Amino acid sequence: TFLDAAINNDVDLEGFGACEGTLSCSTCHIIFKKEDFDKLPEKPSDEEMDMLDLAYGLCDTSRLGCQIT
Ligand code: FES
Repeated sequence: TFLDAAINNDVDLEGFGACEGTLSCSTCHIIFKKEDFDKLPEKPSDEEMDMLDLAYGLCDTSRLGCQIT
């Protein structure tokens, strides 16, 4: 996932991915550019949508980084 890639590459994003991908935080919230968002392979699951609703600054091109493969 995007979260795995960030961790594996030692990307220092303070507080990012606090729940380690168990869909219980929303700290992995990412806002994509529209053109990039449209290229993502899969649509968000209902569980991801529920957690996204709690994300700060939610917008139409928001996703959770731990759910993007
Ligand atoms: Fe917690 Fe993605 S890391 S929801």
